[in-house]
Amino acid sequence: MSDFIRHRRLRNDARMRAFVRETELSARDFIYPLFVIEGKGICDEIASMPGVCRYSLDLLGPVLDEVEALQVGAVILFGIPKEKDSVGSGAYAEDGIVQQAARFIKETHPNLLVIGDVCLCEYTDHGHCGVVRDGEIVNDETLELLAKTAVSQVRAGVDVIAPSDMMDGRVLAIRRALDEAGFINVPILSYAAKYASGFYGPFRDAAGSTPQFGDRRSYQMDPANGDEAMREVESDLAEGADMIIVKPALSYGDILWRVKQKAACPVVAYNVSGEYSLVKAAASQGWIDERRLVLEILLSLKRSGADRIITYHALDAAKWLAEGEGR
Ligand code: PBG
Repeated sequence: MSDFIRHRRLRNDARMRAFVRETELSARDFIYPLFVIEGKGICDEIASMPGVCRYSLDLLGPVLDEVEALQVGAVILFGIPKEKDSVGSGAYAEDGIVQQAARFIKETHPNLLVIGDVCLCEYTDHGHCGVVRDGEIVNDETLELLAKTAVSQVRAGVDVIAPSDMMDGRVLAIRRALDEAGFINVPILSYAAKYASGFYGPFRDAAGSTPQFGDRRSYQMDPANGDEAMREVESDLAEGADMIIVKPALSYGDILWRVKQKAACPVVAYNVSGEYSLVKAAASQGWIDERRLVLEILLSLKRSGADRIITYHALDAAKWLAEGEGR
């Protein structure tokens, strides 16, 4: 006789817990960000992101081997050019750093899925994601440069184009340019819902892309808004996006959930630099159990609606999963 429900029956031992588990993480879910830099012999750890380095191409091989051995789903490339200018020429240069990296990866690791982040901010001397005129970030002039960047990345071997600039109309501009260049089968993974967030601080150290004046609030989204994310997703899909990114991840579980309910396409959460650094900082003090927290965070993103996760924890998490942690 029972007059209450014994929920604990299904949690009583590890086999039962495994049997009823709703969400599972796998290394394939992860996308590992790689910072590639011009030069030789560089493996330069980013001060605010312990364990994450900027690599010159001659030292990239072992990391790619690891990504492959751990069966991590994909890598996403960010470039740090030798020189920056007002129009971000390094982003679409034939021998730009991302283009060189893509060629290198295709030669040495042809089976790896390579995503190219498309944006100008790492390549502009003012640090903004678009062309600047009279102190304003001008939308329409920027589109052509983004489209050129996308085409040159694909020519170099990038498999998936991920525009992160947040200019309006860039998905359409990129789709048209790719199609005209004959790349009709190259998908676009759009950063559709990208918020103007304090969580990008460490990334900007890594890429040297902090805006030299003002901020990104005229193009990235206001963290106060959820409906707006739905409109961004809707228009990007209408323009031809094949997959959607929500970014940042941890404070945006509601957005992930709403996007996944509405958009019938793969949804990717970007577990950004500041979210990584918080965990690493607490772990270095011995205040938290890093493995446990990382796996819990990644699991929660999947539960919130993410099909895939861009994360700096990818290699560690893949190792822990292979060891059978977090069961
Ligand atoms: C480029 C870009 C940024 C990030 C990804 N692509 C920086 C920004 O928008 O300032 C941030 C990633 C991270 O914080 O991990 N626009």
